[in-house]
Amino acid sequence: MSSITFIGAGNMARTIGVLAVAGGNTVEIMARDQSKADALAKVLGGGTTSGKWGAVPAGDIVITAMLYAGVVSTVAEYGEALAGKIIVDISNPFNSTFDGLAHSDETSIAQEVAKIAPPSAMVFKAFNTIFRSVLEEGRPDVFFAGDNPQAKADVAAFIESLGLRPLDVGGLKMAHWLEGAGVLTVGLAGNGIGHGNFAIGVNEFTD
Ligand SMILES: NC(=O)c1ccc[n+]([C@@H]2O[C@H](COP(=O)([O-])OP(=O)(O)OC[C@H]3O[C@@H](n4cnc5c(N)ncnc54)[C@H](OP(=O)(O)O)[C@@H]3O)[C@@H](O)[C@H]2O)c1
Repeated sequence: MSSITFIGAGNMARTIGVLAVAGGNTVEIMARDQSKADALAKVLGGGTTSGKWGAVPAGDIVITAMLYAGVVSTVAEYGEALAGKIIVDISNPFNSTFDGLAHSDETSIAQEVAKIAPPSAMVFKAFNTIFRSVLEEGRPDVFFAGDNPQAKADVAAFIESLGLRPLDVGGLKMAHWLEGAGVLTVGLAGNGIGHGNFAIGVNEFTD
């Protein structure tokens, strides 16, 4: 099992945290508002602890469960405290009309994180294509992207511990396209599907 620290104590930290505890992982919560970290740790139970904002996370895998605008600055603020950690960015940097990304060019929040994180940190994108309600009720595929082969195995094992299927989409530069898939998901929810109780996934067709 894995040791996980969430930075952020909002809805996604709670939803993935519930699955993480149920999957036998060790969980820690950090938040800029210590009382929110303490409260979520209590809700999650199963030995979940709360850590101090900016301290070295207890988890080997650090999930930045914050609104996208706070992710890069928070990783910069943590600095060397994240050395050697697997950092998993789950954010969706939507533009104001939810039909594109808030940043231009072929970058992503995860790639921007990799630029300022300690060189020994291993940065991933995952979970961003899945609505929280689906994570609570279903068994969606979890797409993830990152560069380090050993860390890929660790991220995949963590996702499997949640009872979900990890699907490796490639290196960290694919994080840009995962963010695009987040936009696609919102477009489907607002148009062709018409609700949020679905997730994009993969069906294989073999002879
Ligand atoms: N909800 C979904 O269905 C879903 C699905 C896929 C991906 N995501 C992504 O997951 C991330 C978290 O979403 P959520 O639904 O958990 O949001 P949320 O419930 O609004 O929680 C956001 C968390 O981010 C923290 N935060 C916001 N700005 C911050 C900053 N500048 N510095 C430090 N902390 C900051 C908040 O702290 P305070 O409480 O102190 O404000 C809170 O802990 C987002 O990037 C979102 O795009 C969400």
